[in-house]
Amino acid sequence: MVLVTGGAGYIGSHTVCALTEAGFGCLVLDNLEKGHIEAVKGVPAIRGDLRSPSDIEQAFCSYGVTSVVHLAAYSEVGESVQFPDKYFENNVTGTRNLLDAMETHGVDKIVFSSSAAVYGEPKTATIDESHPTAPSSPYGESKLRAEREITSRDIKSVCLRYFNASGASPTHNIGEDHSPETHLVPRLLLSLLGRTTFQIYGSDYDTPDGTCVRDYVHVSDLARAHVDAVRFLENSPGNHVFNLGSGHGASVSEVVAAAAKVTHKSISPLVTGRRPGDPSRLVASNELAKKVLGWAPVHQDLETIVEHAWHWHRRFPDGYKGVII
Ligand SMILES: NC(=O)c1ccc[n+]([C@@H]2O[C@H](COP(=O)([O-])OP(=O)(O)OC[C@H]3O[C@@H](n4cnc5c(N)ncnc54)[C@H](O)[C@@H]3O)[C@@H](O)[C@H]2O)c1
Repeated sequence: MVLVTGGAGYIGSHTVCALTEAGFGCLVLDNLEKGHIEAVKGVPAIRGDLRSPSDIEQAFCSYGVTSVVHLAAYSEVGESVQFPDKYFENNVTGTRNLLDAMETHGVDKIVFSSSAAVYGEPKTATIDESHPTAPSSPYGESKLRAEREITSRDIKSVCLRYFNASGASPTHNIGEDHSPETHLVPRLLLSLLGRTTFQIYGSDYDTPDGTCVRDYVHVSDLARAHVDAVRFLENSPGNHVFNLGSGHGASVSEVVAAAAKVTHKSISPLVTGRRPGDPSRLVASNELAKKVLGWAPVHQDLETIVEHAWHWHRRFPDGYKGVII
């Protein structure tokens, strides 16, 4: 049985579907502060908090947990700057509590959701795993500290450093529903549905069209990487780090153009000033994950990613409030 913390969240719910389809039994542990019970499909779930050791104990005592996929965390860069302690408590102390319970129960395999935010300002055009880590936000710092907590223990681990998760499952009624929503693709699409506003933060970056370049990786591809990582850990000792990205950069203007094409709507977003701390370009090298995990993104095309997200948002413009289980 794989314990999936944060399994009711955006990436977690897709990961539970991928693990289940691959034949793994899953148990979700989520406090539902940001997650949605409607997103948990056909697996047992415990409402519990990683900051409470007794909640974690309940999960380990009730089911035969053999490995852990740990996604539960706060993940808003801006909020982390405002409330750093909140981020260190949830993301670092929560991870420490989870590792303590793993030790107590003799569970020695963990796949951890880390982030490209651990790298900070990039020094190279594409970022590989040997790039120095220098987080530029408390969020990124909390992820790096959690990685270090993990590697300080006598367990096997894979830390997956995701770039920009986006899209939605093409086969299950699950997608992205954050409140507040800060990610580019959902904000853009929800603005077309009259649910939010959308603006481009800065058009004077040192990029071909002046807008920030990011690496958008389909959430179903990310989910599949967790299956690969859980399998990999069955026979691989030690601690491992893999970047998960498409390996290609797309600018904000290119995402807007893809959305206009997919939705058949004309979009002329307001351009405002830069946001502090936004690097001009963040693009992954995904070679190591390809070589060692045998993982490769399937939904490479930006229009496909936007199309799948659009399908979800159009069906459920108010997110999981509109989903009947
Ligand atoms: N979305 C991205 O683009 C992205 C990029 C890099 C890394 N990540 C990381 O991936 C993970 C999942 O991200 P997401 O976008 O799915 O976020 P999400 O907010 O949708 O999911 C996180 C889930 O964890 C739960 N949770 C949070 N704190 C908890 C706690 N103390 N106890 C129990 N449950 C708790 C929330 O209720 C939520 O369901 C996070 O660790 C995030 O830092 C996400």
